[in-house]
Amino acid sequence: KDKSTVSITVVGASGDLAKKKIFPALFALFYEGCLPEHFTICGYARSKMSDAELRTMVSKTLTCRIDQRENCGEKMDQFLERCFYHPGQYDSEENFLELDRKLKEHEAGRVANRLFYLSIPPNIFVDAVKCASSSASSANGWTRVIVEKPFGRDSESSAALTRSLKQYLDEDQIFRIDHYLGKELVENLSVLRFSNLIFEPLWSRQYIRNVQFIFAEDFGTEGRGGYFDNYGIIRDIMQNHLLQMLAIFAMETPVSLDAEDIRNEKVKVLRSMRPLRLDDVVVGQYKSHTRGGVKYPAYTDDKTVPAGSLTPTFAAAALFIDNARWDGVPFLMKAGKALHDRRAEIRVQFRHVPGNLYNKNIGTDLDLATNELVIRVQPDEAIYLKINNKVPGLGMRLDRSNLNLLYAARYSKEIPDAYERLLLDAIEGERRLFIRSDELNAAWSLFSPVLKELEEKKIVPEYYPYGSRGPVCSHYLAAKYKVRWGDIG
Ligand code: BG6
Repeated sequence: KDKSTVSITVVGASGDLAKKKIFPALFALFYEGCLPEHFTICGYARSKMSDAELRTMVSKTLTCRIDQRENCGEKMDQFLERCFYHPGQYDSEENFLELDRKLKEHEAGRVANRLFYLSIPPNIFVDAVKCASSSASSANGWTRVIVEKPFGRDSESSAALTRSLKQYLDEDQIFRIDHYLGKELVENLSVLRFSNLIFEPLWSRQYIRNVQFIFAEDFGTEGRGGYFDNYGIIRDIMQNHLLQMLAIFAMETPVSLDAEDIRNEKVKVLRSMRPLRLDDVVVGQYKSHTRGGVKYPAYTDDKTVPAGSLTPTFAAAALFIDNARWDGVPFLMKAGKALHDRRAEIRVQFRHVPGNLYNKNIGTDLDLATNELVIRVQPDEAIYLKINNKVPGLGMRLDRSNLNLLYAARYSKEIPDAYERLLLDAIEGERRLFIRSDELNAAWSLFSPVLKELEEKKIVPEYYPYGSRGPVCSHYLAAKYKVRWGDIG
């Protein structure tokens, strides 16, 4: 019998992230029997709320994959019995001391491990960590804190945040989330590379022409303009989600699957990269567009966005890794909001077949004849490889066909939400999918100089209509490196 207990405090319990992601993920873990036998969940926020009100909020916002299951209601009741609420200020030692007393009642003398999930704005991170660590950390078990980005806005502010957090916590108590690392297909990336003989030998400049990391959303900043305007798409998506995928894609084989071994390799590859130059980045911002009688707003129509804001809602960039494996291979990134579809994918474009017999004989368009491996992170998770194939018949004609691993067709199991995996890992002390401070520094060093330049030079973004394929400047950038975006068709 497990004599220990875990208390999970969601700091900022009434916020959007808590409602949409954290509570649903915790419930899904409970439903699947993944939470320890003894656990308590505490919502902590400034607003006045009773335990019953918190429970109603949690059950009403159950947006996770479990809500279609038959015995969901019964399980939910059991789950809600373990949830309670504690109102308090984020910078009040006294309020955290009261929380500590309350947690102790629930922990009933067991070895009490404590996990704090900080789902609050960055300007109050440090105060909350200070109070949680000094007044509500565990007396006899572990204390861990999960933090979400933004981790600063540039190298300096990020380093300052790290220093402040480390006044109160050790590095191994800090779990910096990048939720893209919890996505199934991102987890699978190393499996694909390192457990299939046919991929790893091709994974270098010798066979790969370019790699593309693409993120698109078909909606704008919708109500988050206040946050977004201070950061922009490069900080919101590229510096973290896309760069993390790149690091796993491009790192050398780690010594083992141990968290430190993996993170050492990620840091190495990030440190081998050239900081992004202004010449290698283009930016855009969505403008209003009317389609089918519906008027879609411009970014600057958002009341929380300052008029005339130049903050990019779209960016494309070309990055390079100066090591023996990747020398000269463009790693292209493209990220945008209010585009025509929603997708996140990695595209690996291979080189031409040297002396291709079929090009010579039947004059196939060279560009069509190169292989492409696509890892579709979302939606409709899939891995597919574009190959040349003979069109059946008496003639000799080639076309490009897909070897297709469509998850929905291959696996009947649902794909867990990224937050489920990450919360479970944090409870189990598995740090593999969390960002270490040296990784974070390396990531900022790549983007900080260009972000500063973009802001200082007041670079005007190219305006693209809401719901379009984005600004044309991204094609010029790709063309500079003789690349075509794979998602264009
Ligand atoms: C967040 C960004 O980190 O990721 C958001 O702040 C973005 O702007 C979101 O919408 C995308 O996450 P997902 O999992 O929906 O692709």
